[in-house]
Amino acid sequence: MSETTRGRVFSGARPTGKQHLGNYLGAIRNYVALQDEYDCIYCIVDLHALTTIERPTDMWHDVRDMALDWLAAGMDPARTIIFVQSHVPQVTELYTLLGMVTPMGWLSRLPTFKEKVRQQPDNVNYGLLGYPVLMAADIVLYKADTVPVGDDQLPHLEFTREIVRRFNDRFGPVLIEPQAKLTDVPRVMGTDGANKMSKSLNNQIELAATPEETLKRVMGMVTDPARAYRTDPGHPEVCNVFALHGIYSPDRVAEIERECRVAGIGCVDCKRLFAANLNAALAPFRERRAELAANEDMVREVLADGAHRAEALAVETLREVKEAIGLVLPF
Ligand code: TRP
Repeated sequence: MSETTRGRVFSGARPTGKQHLGNYLGAIRNYVALQDEYDCIYCIVDLHALTTIERPTDMWHDVRDMALDWLAAGMDPARTIIFVQSHVPQVTELYTLLGMVTPMGWLSRLPTFKEKVRQQPDNVNYGLLGYPVLMAADIVLYKADTVPVGDDQLPHLEFTREIVRRFNDRFGPVLIEPQAKLTDVPRVMGTDGANKMSKSLNNQIELAATPEETLKRVMGMVTDPARAYRTDPGHPEVCNVFALHGIYSPDRVAEIERECRVAGIGCVDCKRLFAANLNAALAPFRERRAELAANEDMVREVLADGAHRAEALAVETLREVKEAIGLVLPF
């Protein structure tokens, strides 16, 4: 990375395999754009994923699919460090050390923890409680000052800042207090029109799907529920397809809005148009992804190189942290 005064971005995402439109519009697109302004580090957080996994899993399958989507979307390994969390094991060491300055109450009070307890009452593991400490370790290990996240992650970011302040108060000004960078992202709803787009709800539109699969998914999208018949006037403001037309059909959106309200256009034609525009917009991405997918070794190399570059930064920070605490350094 360049020795300029550019800020340093770190963000992480759990390996969820093939990415969907919600991932793209909510995060990936922004990760890609930030590369022009910041030195960026993007991490596939496989250790965090283990907090919800109870059986052996094909992690590589999900990691590879996600990395392929990231790369095809324009993440540039020449400029950006792209790596897998567990490949730089120093993060677990920092996680242990940060745990020593983390009050239990801060963790158990976090809304994200309570939510997980509700979601998986039979697997309330210690890793789940420590999840934000590991996330804080991610961010501070690489001395990031800027963290692009969705608003669901704001409590974790605030937690990270508190841990940094506490650590620095006790041991000296070693760690950097990061800022959250919220971007103006649309809340992308799933094809059910009722929930946020998510793989676990099977309401997603995958970026790497074929045009035919995409059409099928789009045709299944729930639109304005008040519009039962073709002749019923529609309400674009409550329609998920219309919201996406705003992004994928910018020059038709005024016309679609007008026609929908007077039942001039029906939902079927409206969806067909959306599917066609979406497929056209995704075509270059899909072509690049297919090329990259044909060479899996290349993905391994990108991630190995990313881990190597990340580790160099990690070793440096850990050394400073241990020195500040007063641990005896082995060399
Ligand atoms: N907790 C984040 C999420 O669920 C993922 C994550 C892990 C992360 N480490 C991070 C995000 C560091 C930003 C910075 O989305």
